[in-house]
Amino acid sequence: MTNITWDKSLSVEVDEIDEDHQKLVNLFNILSNSVAQDDDADYIDAVLEELITCTVWHFRHEERLMLLHKYQGLMEHRAEHNELIDSVRELQQKFSDDKKPLTQEEIEFLEGWLTGHILGQDMRLGFFLMKVM
Ligand SMILES: [Fe+2]
Repeated sequence: MTNITWDKSLSVEVDEIDEDHQKLVNLFNILSNSVAQDDDADYIDAVLEELITCTVWHFRHEERLMLLHKYQGLMEHRAEHNELIDSVRELQQKFSDDKKPLTQEEIEFLEGWLTGHILGQDMRLGFFLMKVM
């Protein structure tokens, strides 16, 4: 089972962003556990949809902060958000078309999807916001 443990290494040092990320990590862990337990497909689909919906909401939150504080990296960061949403929607579509459980590989893909963005673009954003907020 793949779980993400929240710790300081994932903090971008901006509380309102860290709070969103903790929520996303929590949802990811619920999803990962329900896949490992082979829960009902409707339930897994609901968790996946909740994770995606929260992620979209969170991305808009970050984009608002970037606009408010005139962050130079906005375009690049927003493009990565859009790519991330496209790739997880693709996975969701595949899951609903195939009617097969998510694989461990797909869960690991989602783990990398979430932590990779936090440790990359979001750290750079956090470093900037920390100085201007
Ligand atoms: Fe982001």
